[in-house]
Amino acid sequence: MHATAHAELMKKQKILMIMHESLVPPDSIDGLAQRVVDEWRTEYDVVTHLKAAGHDVRCLGVYDSLTSLKSTIQEWRPDVVFNLLEEFDGLVEQDHHVVSFLELMRQPYTGCNPRGLMLSRDKVLTKQLLSYHRIPSPKFAIFPRGKRIQVPAKLRYPLFVKSATDDASLGIAQASICHDASSLRQRIEFVHEQNSSDALVEEYIEGREIYVGVLGNDRLTTLPIWELKFGLLSDGRAPIATRRVKWDRRYQARHGIFTEAAQDLPDSVIAELHRLARRICRALHLTGYARVDFRVRRDGRIFALEANANPILSQEEVYARAAQTAGLSYDALLARILSLGMGYQATWRVGGD
Ligand SMILES: Nc1ncnc2c1ncn2[C@@H]1O[C@H](COP(=O)(O)OP(=O)(O)O)[C@@H](O)[C@H]1O
Ligand SMILES: [Mg+2]
Repeated sequence: MHATAHAELMKKQKILMIMHESLVPPDSIDGLAQRVVDEWRTEYDVVTHLKAAGHDVRCLGVYDSLTSLKSTIQEWRPDVVFNLLEEFDGLVEQDHHVVSFLELMRQPYTGCNPRGLMLSRDKVLTKQLLSYHRIPSPKFAIFPRGKRIQVPAKLRYPLFVKSATDDASLGIAQASICHDASSLRQRIEFVHEQNSSDALVEEYIEGREIYVGVLGNDRLTTLPIWELKFGLLSDGRAPIATRRVKWDRRYQARHGIFTEAAQDLPDSVIAELHRLARRICRALHLTGYARVDFRVRRDGRIFALEANANPILSQEEVYARAAQTAGLSYDALLARILSLGMGYQATWRVGGD
């Protein structure tokens, strides 16, 4: 893998990076506060490294129109689009349509294909598919918006309430963990209103928070098992990945929250995590690069929480650090992602003229 990644680094490509229009990074971060840079850290890391590798890179901000995307592709003819877009017109459920548009234009792009994006975005469809494949994930029930809330008897408290489609821990807090029917009802209503989406209720899994990176289109490679350590947060609060736990640097420092290569997992659990991560990516048709989130109970039982297509790619986040630990430098990782994007066998390539 390293030899080919190196060869790919050498070849200069025309790369069109697409991202939310508010996340187009400036050329330099000199004098900017860390808090400001953190907003578009991934975009900045990717663009600076691709440029330093000698590629011809352009950034295009996208919000609610595809007009300039279309004209840029037609006029500039990029070799590949580096897709860092996570929503369209403010709606995360629409991100896969933009990738479908790239497919319709026969434009190679990095990251996941539209079908994988759509399936993994929808946590309910994800769980239904995992269940078909007998891949363990927490028992669950769905509470559609606008329907009467009937609490099912088959689920055991504590229960965890989240949005069926939002990501980035939107709407996730200590109050997501419910111990009785009345708090459950309240939190379901909260998700219906605040997230404007259906609510997914799962049995709460007490255990370690584990992430597994996967790289590939057909042949899938897994990265070293990574863990979010909650530090002192566990005194009094339940160890769950809220927004602050994930991204608030001061909060992390205060509570001793950090991530690292998972220590002291039994070999059998490690092997099972690698295997499950690959099976999950296949079940959900994920391609390019992905990260699967798990909880691992003290007795060694593994539960899949969700799969993230196109996970955060900043140099200091889980995915790139796990790759680095596996001997894949950030530059080599980006090169690999580019070549997977350019090599993806889209329908128009397989069946086309
Ligand atoms: N069933 C569950 N049991 C325990 N913790 C959970 C459960 N579901 C979610 N969590 C916690 O909430 C976090 C976010 O949930 P997740 O399903 O990964 O959504 P998101 O897309 O917002 O990351 C997880 O990382 C985990 O800490
Ligand atoms: Mg998650």
